[in-house]
Amino acid sequence: MCGIVGYVGKNESSTDFVINGLKALEYRGYDSAGLATIDKGKLKYLKDVGRVANLDKLIKNNGDNALKEIGSAKISCGIGHTRWATHGSVTKPNAHPHTNSASDIFVVCNGIIENYQEIREKLVSEGYKFKSETDTEVIPHLIDFYMKSKKADFYPAFKTAISDLRGAYAVAAVYADNPETIYVARLSSPIVIGVGDQEHFIASDPSALIHKTKKVIFLNDYEVAQITAKEAKIESLDGAKAAAQQVVELDYEAEESEMGKYPHFMLKEIHEAPATIQSAIRGRVKPAINTIKLGGLESVKQQLGLIDRIIITACGTSYYAGLIGEYLIEEIAGVPVEVQLSSEFKYRNEPLSRGTAVIAISQSGETADTIAAIKKVEDYGILKLGIVNAVGSTLARITDAGVYCHAGPEQSVASTKAFIAQVTILTEIALHLSNGKSKLYSPLLKELVDLPSKAEETLKLESDIKKLAQKYAKARDFLFIGRNYLYPCALEGALKLKEISYIHAEGCSAGEMKHGPLAMIDENFPTIALACNGPLLEKTMSNIEEIKARKGPIIAISTEGNEKIKTLADDVIYVPKTVEQLQPLLVTIVMQLFAYFVAVEKGLNVDRPRNLAKSVTVE
Ligand code: M6R
Repeated sequence: MCGIVGYVGKNESSTDFVINGLKALEYRGYDSAGLATIDKGKLKYLKDVGRVANLDKLIKNNGDNALKEIGSAKISCGIGHTRWATHGSVTKPNAHPHTNSASDIFVVCNGIIENYQEIREKLVSEGYKFKSETDTEVIPHLIDFYMKSKKADFYPAFKTAISDLRGAYAVAAVYADNPETIYVARLSSPIVIGVGDQEHFIASDPSALIHKTKKVIFLNDYEVAQITAKEAKIESLDGAKAAAQQVVELDYEAEESEMGKYPHFMLKEIHEAPATIQSAIRGRVKPAINTIKLGGLESVKQQLGLIDRIIITACGTSYYAGLIGEYLIEEIAGVPVEVQLSSEFKYRNEPLSRGTAVIAISQSGETADTIAAIKKVEDYGILKLGIVNAVGSTLARITDAGVYCHAGPEQSVASTKAFIAQVTILTEIALHLSNGKSKLYSPLLKELVDLPSKAEETLKLESDIKKLAQKYAKARDFLFIGRNYLYPCALEGALKLKEISYIHAEGCSAGEMKHGPLAMIDENFPTIALACNGPLLEKTMSNIEEIKARKGPIIAISTEGNEKIKTLADDVIYVPKTVEQLQPLLVTIVMQLFAYFVAVEKGLNVDRPRNLAKSVTVE
């Protein structure tokens, strides 16, 4: 969704940093972009619909397109924004930054200002004129209003204006008369401050500034900051002590945010599956001493020992990982688990006993629905855990404890390696909760260690999968079926295909076929049947027979050695043998590659599918 970047310092041009930073945030999805920078004393203010590259071109063509000279500025300072339309359509006036009528206050904002209509009406009655349909435009006018009506300086007026806002937002502002300062504020939408040498960076996502510094400060809710080249002064607006100056070190390299030799981030990230499993088990899974150690759960060891029920809450792909977690935790640890979509859980009125723990799963750690789900149980006195990829993200901070995915930055909108990490970690949590009592404990510890090489083997199937994708890319519909662990896996396979190829796809429990979905089957409706070794294989094979009898084309993903399936399926992809509980990890790689190559075959924008954003920071 929307992205914010900013720079203040003398080591480089803020315009250059802002443009490059916005490019680094393109993966989040956007429809327009803009910036306000004060470079070499010149104020630039530009915005337009379309790509950041257009903005870059505009700047290069109109290099001196400054609104005014800012004589005193010795430091380069500026902010930029990529917009993903919420309030108001995709137009140039709706793009950010927004400004006041004197064009000396510039504001960019991510999120939603819920009471903007109210504020707008009040300002209109005071004579303020609006140029856009956005909620953000109220902010520069409101600051202007407080500066004039209270005869206040910019910063006190900024803080008063921010205190008036309701909703979820990250705001960055610059003021032409204080040309060496960026002002930021946050409520439920991320903003990170990068600390450099006599310079500071801001971004809604660390991947925009990791090239410059790994030292960052994550702003907390209700915090505001005045940021100059020398310092970031943080204070809290709700009277709490600001977590100011807690500088943390990011744990990934800049190259991890780049595409390298791959044509798309999605393909790169699928290929990172073996390394992702490796990172998720490193230092945690120790078969030699028959132990699993989850350092992130140490601090809540006692509470964990008392839980008798788990609710997993998540959205999209993370939700499907959660469903696999349900099977894993129930079978291995014997703890009842319920998985709920965050968008449902947050509005549901259900009894939650003290013995319940809630686990939020999120790649970004910034998904608004999942944050709201955790906030709902904030005061219930129950344990809140996180399985999060983005270090320092909101969910990582508002949960009591958790296990990081350590998958590195995921840039493609379609989540791939994060799912692999989440399922690996859910397996680890299940093992951890079993206290070594499950008969699966030792075999799974051993198998987890072997899994990266099996994932590597699976990736070698790429050219076969590509051929299959080319063969079936024209299909209008797909069904994905599976049983037990492979049922949620089928749901994820269908999501992956529909989100990047725009082909209608449904996931279904193989056992449910004859309760309805079988009616859809004909020679034009292919089924991807997940039919790996396990106690329910025979039953899945029978379901495949039923599809074959209705002339439905069948692509089977099965375990090496299953010869019989060749007689039933039109095409078969064999994955290496592994235990039933870990099959989703290998099968998912095949489905991810299949979806990827179908989208490539259709000539679609694989990494940035239409209408979707990487991090869904609004409800
Ligand atoms: O960052 P999160 O894991 O919380 O995101 C949840 C979903 O928005 C996300 O998984 C989405 O479904 C992906 N585009 C799926 O590939």
